[in-house]
Amino acid sequence: MKHPQKVVNLERYPIQDLGTPAARRLIKACRSDLDETAICTLNGFIRPDVIDEMAREAQALAEDGYKNCNLRTPYGWMRNKDFPQDHPRSALFTNSNNVVLTHQFPGNTLIERLYQWDPLTDFVREALGIKTLYRSACPHLSLMLSAMGEGDGLGWHFDTNDGVVSLLLQAPDDGGLFECAPYIRSEADENYDTVKRLFADEPGIAVRPDITPGAFVLFKGRRSCHRVTSVGRTSKPRMIALLSYDEQPGMVFPQTTVKDLMDPSPEPYHGQPG
Ligand SMILES: [Fe+2]
Repeated sequence: MKHPQKVVNLERYPIQDLGTPAARRLIKACRSDLDETAICTLNGFIRPDVIDEMAREAQALAEDGYKNCNLRTPYGWMRNKDFPQDHPRSALFTNSNNVVLTHQFPGNTLIERLYQWDPLTDFVREALGIKTLYRSACPHLSLMLSAMGEGDGLGWHFDTNDGVVSLLLQAPDDGGLFECAPYIRSEADENYDTVKRLFADEPGIAVRPDITPGAFVLFKGRRSCHRVTSVGRTSKPRMIALLSYDEQPGMVFPQTTVKDLMDPSPEPYHGQPG
């Protein structure tokens, strides 16, 4: 079994000792990327000689994953009733993928060992510029895989929280591209006019960051609308790993969130009820 130090390209991304000048430069660059573009992409984070093995492990697990396909509002944390039909708050987009939850991992895969490696958690904390960060204690959603085959994709949406960490393990032959509109909304200004033009696929609003298999991606999605375009004809699924953290120890996701993934409702999700 490979140690995480043999998994991460530490010559390029020296995260094992965050006190070195090279590590401080890396952290500074990550923070400035996040501030300016809402996304920090470290291509080649996983060593090229390891990424195929990681992807193979993930793809094998995804065969027993939970299939999700439903319509969702981009504004999942809000109450979205009573808006005109052409308003962004009334929009619904299709989410379709196959997810592997934490309890489905066998305990010895490369991605599990990497997630449990403390220097990675410390690096994420530093890149986010926060004082404390802990791996989620959730037995179901702390570490997840998302697989997307032909026709799968993730519609435009905002995340509930900033600081989502993902690793692209495998890219499909066609489509399955991450697109985002950095900081398109704020807590003070929803900027609905621009969001509406984004949903109408007007060019020049969203960007498509260059993310290649083996990339580490840190993203601030609460104010940055984003999607994964539909996967086209492909010999292999798009595979990502999602790593969850929290500023407090012992964080577990609500049971409803877990249930939504293990036993998804066929009904469209319009946001918070009431
Ligand atoms: Fe998201």
